[in-house]
Amino acid sequence: MTESFIHRFQPGSAAGAAPLLLLHGTGGDENDLLPLGAMLSSGAALLSPRGRVLEHGMPRFFRRLAEGVFDEDDVRRRAAELGDFVTKARQRYELAAPIAVGFSNGANIAAALLLLQPGVLAGAVLLRAMVPLSQPPAADLTGTPVLMLSGVTDPIVPAANATRLAAQLSDAGADVTHRTLPVGHQLSQADVTLARDWLAGLGQRAAA
Ligand code: MLT
Repeated sequence: MTESFIHRFQPGSAAGAAPLLLLHGTGGDENDLLPLGAMLSSGAALLSPRGRVLEHGMPRFFRRLAEGVFDEDDVRRRAAELGDFVTKARQRYELAAPIAVGFSNGANIAAALLLLQPGVLAGAVLLRAMVPLSQPPAADLTGTPVLMLSGVTDPIVPAANATRLAAQLSDAGADVTHRTLPVGHQLSQADVTLARDWLAGLGQRAAA
């Protein structure tokens, strides 16, 4: 049932544009990333759920024990719920497999979803992501495109942690592009430009 997640859905108008699964950061909601999604891929269908975990009233996609310390059992459980939601939403809205666009906590659940349920996502843009699972399962992500954008002065995501996630995904076969920008945790214009160009490149490859 798609009712399992409060969500927004905006139908696509551009034939062939991959749907985007928009995953907000801590304290965000299903409305937050709709403008970003429209900027990144004009005319793409947008599916935007609200995280079901509340931390002091702030929605998230999984529980954490402290900043940067995750309840990994909850990560697994919530990734399964989200994967199920995506499958049901694809049926209900007649969608191809989506590309996740996740920011911060949303990027971390997207990374978990990639590793735990290969095939649910057609790819991912991970904005300020960190390792969600210290012992990821052996996943086959052969050829799955992933763009990771990190911030060199990000106070939440240590550079080595982001590099480790990029390596976990590459080791599983994903086609990872990892760029570190001269910014902190917040998104910047460079994120928008790089993600938009990367998505456009995927679209061109798919159409060729
Ligand atoms: C998290 O998942 O906790 C993020 O890395 C940080 C945040 O959402 O604030």
